[in-house]
Amino acid sequence: MSKEITWTQEKKTSFQEDLLTWYRLEKRDLPWRESTDPYRVWVSEIMLQQTQVVTVIPYFNRFMEWFPTIEALANANEDKLLKAWEGLGYYSRVRNMQHAAKEIVKTFDGKMPNKIEDILSLKGVGPYTGGAIGSIAFSLPEPAIDGNVMRVYSRLFCLADDIALPKTRKVFDRYVRDTMSQSEPGDFNQALMDLGATICTPTKPSCETCPIQAYCEAKKTNTISKYPVKKKKEKAKPLYYVADILQNDTGAFLLEKRPSDGLLADMWTFPMREVTKKDYDRFSQIYDSHDVSTGMVAEQLNLYDEVENIKDKNLLGIVTHIFSHRKWHILVVQDKLNGLKDTHLTNQKWVYLDEFPQYVFPKPQQKMVELLKKSMNN
Ligand code: ADE
Repeated sequence: MSKEITWTQEKKTSFQEDLLTWYRLEKRDLPWRESTDPYRVWVSEIMLQQTQVVTVIPYFNRFMEWFPTIEALANANEDKLLKAWEGLGYYSRVRNMQHAAKEIVKTFDGKMPNKIEDILSLKGVGPYTGGAIGSIAFSLPEPAIDGNVMRVYSRLFCLADDIALPKTRKVFDRYVRDTMSQSEPGDFNQALMDLGATICTPTKPSCETCPIQAYCEAKKTNTISKYPVKKKKEKAKPLYYVADILQNDTGAFLLEKRPSDGLLADMWTFPMREVTKKDYDRFSQIYDSHDVSTGMVAEQLNLYDEVENIKDKNLLGIVTHIFSHRKWHILVVQDKLNGLKDTHLTNQKWVYLDEFPQYVFPKPQQKMVELLKKSMNN
């Protein structure tokens, strides 16, 4: 159990006032702050998980245009929904949102519920998002604890709990709950977010301009750089792939839809097959030395039926991409085919480059397309 909170009620009140006064003057002008409509708050908070504010702004505006209500989101076409999310990553976030939107239409008459238990029952809404929606949209005195808030509070109270551990959230929950504004919880939570983003930054915080420096234990003891405590997490597991950019003699490229479950479900990529590290290294050497036996990659890619006549092949390069627990290493090869027009597999399609925007591409695929375009311009 961590330390007791020793602040008097007067100290808590003046702390809240100082923070809120600063927020009223300095708050960032962001599109989701134009109203406290629960739907807008919900969408913005989901987008802002794992994604920076500047990146989110255009996505948020477009999302509101395409799906202006909870009902519109519930009824959205899956491809369009994924398109709206393309580039943000972590696609389960938007799938869960649609699932929750359907639940809201079914159970709550199409309106975001205003009780914290009901908000938290929605798919994809955890304690952070639930607290943000509850406090911002409904003025419920609920904390919304993300990495920024943990950083601010770890310094404020010199809390040495490892913020990488899930159980640490409880400690911070107790501190924030006990010290937060009860009358303006939404602004209080957003003030903490802004403070964490602009002043109480991970490195080189601007303590001189901080509105709550007088309350900060780490500032007082000159230990800011010790907080927050965060132990290194395990490295992402490396996975190896060969991706084959196959082009037929009409100029179309073969795309393949990923399975409906798992990472990047239902999205389109060039055909990719996982290979062992040993094979990956072997292929890269073979390609590097341009000593390629035609059948080998085709065999490895399990494309024998389709690949009848390869007339030209070429290593385009290597693409890497880090997900939260995995790192993909993709060796990208390009094959030109003679005579092949059709694929018998239902999850594959021949697609022209100018039709690519109609397909939902995950980030690694976007990187492969960039590589391809670069090679076409050379
Ligand atoms: N980060 C997460 N939620 C936010 C919000 N409502 N405003 C600014 N930054 C945020």
